[in-house]
This record gives sequence, structure tokens and C-alpha cells, in this order.
Amino acid sequence: MNPVYEKLLNCVEQVKAKTDFKPEVAIVLGSGLGDFAQNIKVECEISYDEIKGFPVSTVPGHAGKFIFGYIEQTPVVCMKGRVHYYEGYPISDVVLPIRLMKLLGASKLFLTNASGGVNETFSAGDLMMLVDHIAIFAPNPLIGPNIDELGTRFPDMSQVYSKRLQQILKDAAEAEGIDLKQGIYAQLTGPSFESPADVRATKVLGADAVGMSTVVEAIAANHMGMEICGVSCVCNLAAGLSANPLSHEEVQEAADMASEKFANLLLRAVPQF
Ligand code: HPA
Repeated sequence: MNPVYEKLLNCVEQVKAKTDFKPEVAIVLGSGLGDFAQNIKVECEISYDEIKGFPVSTVPGHAGKFIFGYIEQTPVVCMKGRVHYYEGYPISDVVLPIRLMKLLGASKLFLTNASGGVNETFSAGDLMMLVDHIAIFAPNPLIGPNIDELGTRFPDMSQVYSKRLQQILKDAAEAEGIDLKQGIYAQLTGPSFESPADVRATKVLGADAVGMSTVVEAIAANHMGMEICGVSCVCNLAAGLSANPLSHEEVQEAADMASEKFANLLLRAVPQF
């Protein structure tokens, strides 16, 4: 059997041995957004390090665990913390958690992250709904023998972010009085922040925000036919667009400040998925 698939099935078995919870919606909480988990009616928590073979995050602020529970009536699984490619894991490990949540039953995926704003109309603290992404700077998570059990060799990527979920997000934002921006997110590998010239380059290519996650997860999820949406917290203006040097602490602070707005958006939108 394909070793990537074998490892995935092994992790799925370990989780199923701990819980029979069947989520409908999978939610990935990005930098600084982990506090959202307090809004979930928790049924069960599984720390990533309880799952043998599962990639464990090394980033401060990314305490790693699955939280199974309910948002209103909707059964969800939340990832509090994710692993990033820059941590040194193979890209198949980076998307393993997404594949696992699909195999547990989640057909919908809500991706969140922290990003740097490239679009000059954005300010730190803005929320941006992803309408598309730029994947060409990140390794493709589907490289290697195709796992036919998950999806097709050459998956279509013309509408990764579901129009239906986008509409629900827009309506939820309006109801909550949140100014939800829209745009294109580019994933770069990190871990260094971009240079001003990198940022100008992504802008020429059409990016509105840059970050170090999410796109590879969306590709793996789309491969499996999940219905996907994404919201980015624009934590800072990307390099060269403001006078300040960038720091992880600044990113976390901005994400913390936006966390209530973010939580309100998720809490209103997810039950309508
Ligand atoms: N660049 C990349 N990733 C980020 C940034 C940034 O400026 N801010 C938060 N995550």
C-alpha cells in the first residue's frame, strides 16, 4: 500500500479507537485563533502527540490538539494548531490532518490563518475571505503516487473555495457588522517573512495577502472533494508596505485583537453550512 495512505489510515484508526464522534465540519484555527475553541461544546479532545506518527507542531501559539464537539447543532472537529511545511515535515504530513478529518466524516472544511496584507486597501486586523489562491510557491501536496482512494490524479482547481460557503460567510459577516474583505491568498514557504521585493512580486501576480499555510491544505481537501472556505486574519501589512519590521509577536497580538470578531463570524456561519 502507498506508505502515505497507510500512515493516514493508521492515524485514523488510532483516533477512532479514542472517539466515535462523526464531525460534519472541520475547522483549522490559525495563529492566535486557538481561543475560538472555547466556544465549542466539547465532547472529546485528542492531543496530536497521542496519535503515533501524527505531525506535532513546534510553533509557539500552536498548542496541538483536535477538539470534537458542537457549534449549536453542528458536529465539528477543530484543529487547535496546525503544522507548517517550514517546520521540516514532508508535505504529505502537513496535509495528513486534513485527510484524517475527511476520513472521520467531515465533508466541509473551514480554513483560517494569519497573513500579511499585500492589498494596500487592507489594514491590520481585517478579515479576508479567500476567493482563490496562488499555489505556485508552495510544494504541491499531491506529488507522488496518486492515492486513488482519496481522489483523482489531476483534480480540477477552478473553484476551490465554495461559492455557497462564501455566500454564507458574507451574510454572516453582514449580520455581525463585520467588514469582511475578499481576496486571493498566496502561500509562500516561510519561515522567513517576505522581502519587500517578494511582496511586490506576489502583488503583480494578483495576491491580496501572503502567508505560510492553508493553500496546500485546500489542495488536499479539494482533491478529496471537500467543500472548502477560508478566512484570513490580516495581521500586518506585508514587508515594505509599512515602516515596521515584522515579528511573530506582532502577528499573534493582531490575531488576538481580531479573535472576537473572528469567533462571531465562525459561530454565526458554521451552523448554516
Ligand atoms: N507574511 C507571511 N505570513 C504572515 C505574515 C506576513 O507578513 N503575517 C502573518 N503571517
